[in-house]
Amino acid sequence: MMNTLSFNSATDIPLGWIWVFPAKQIKRKQIHAVNLMGREIIVFRGEDNQLGALDAYCPHMGAHLVDGKVEGNGIRCFFHNWKFNRDGNCIDIPCLKTLPAKKIQQRSFTVKEKYGLIWLWTGETSPSFDIPCVPELTNQALDFSLGNQWQKKCHPNVVMINAIDEHHFQTVHKLPGHVLNMSPKVIDDINIHFENQGKPSAHHWFGRLMQRFYQGPITYQMSYWYGLVGTVTLGPDFMHLHLMFALRPQADGSTLGKTIAFTKQRAGLLGRIFNTALLQVTKLAGFYFAIGDTKVFQKIRFDLKHPIKHDKTVLAFIKHLEKQPKVDWQASLKQSSHENVTKRMIHEH
Ligand code: FES
Ligand SMILES: [Fe+2]
Repeated sequence: MMNTLSFNSATDIPLGWIWVFPAKQIKRKQIHAVNLMGREIIVFRGEDNQLGALDAYCPHMGAHLVDGKVEGNGIRCFFHNWKFNRDGNCIDIPCLKTLPAKKIQQRSFTVKEKYGLIWLWTGETSPSFDIPCVPELTNQALDFSLGNQWQKKCHPNVVMINAIDEHHFQTVHKLPGHVLNMSPKVIDDINIHFENQGKPSAHHWFGRLMQRFYQGPITYQMSYWYGLVGTVTLGPDFMHLHLMFALRPQADGSTLGKTIAFTKQRAGLLGRIFNTALLQVTKLAGFYFAIGDTKVFQKIRFDLKHPIKHDKTVLAFIKHLEKQPKVDWQASLKQSSHENVTKRMIHEH
């Protein structure tokens, strides 16, 4: 039954922003290729340093555009030197004086740089929402630090449950009982929050120690967008740590992830030094939680056959993903298939 759900689906592509490269990896006039859920896409920087992204296979005869070169702010295919601008319009065919009457168009994608990453909008039309941000930091000037790239051998949706499966916080991460008691809160079709109602337990040494210094609540808030981006905010009221997990599925069913630590900008040299240290600590906190269950996410075959009440957050996440708008890449790829065109040509000539 689980296979028919959007959750953990190898074929469903959510409408949203997916990270494709670290921004620094693509220099001016460079072209890189990425396989995004079975679709080859090239991402490049023009001479103006702005990004562009196009379907990878040339609409003429299918050569891979990564072998081409950047010319001005467009791309020239290696094979017969057709040129495409950033919007995917063919603007030059060197052996023809005028371009064919029927416009030749390659599918282009909206790409944006944010948090040190390049993000690609999966939809056909212009983006209907922005790249996610930590809710508590929305509309604030931010400092961030981009962490290492990591891989897990399961779908990103499954990786995401790691931060909301409160059951395993006790068994794997040895957090004292009842620290976490999260309730899901649906914000809209693409965004769901998980907010914690728990307090440090007086039945545990760590809880008692905490309570000596601090009586306020410990925040643990997750925010998930379209099953591929998650943010964590955690800590006592006087110091919240913020992390983002940007995930993308790979063709072999694994997940390629990036962790980004955030904090609000602090003024002056001291502010900068403080933030640098804080961002490192934040990344370490993320690392601590990731390392404890590495082996689970390298072998799991997710199948929640016997949910119990402690799995309520996981179930809420699975349910919410059903509402997430999807994009149908297969349909748009078929429409522009060379096979269709070649068949028509054979008939006509
Ligand atoms: S295949 Fe690209 S120009 Fe011919
Ligand atoms: Fe975990």
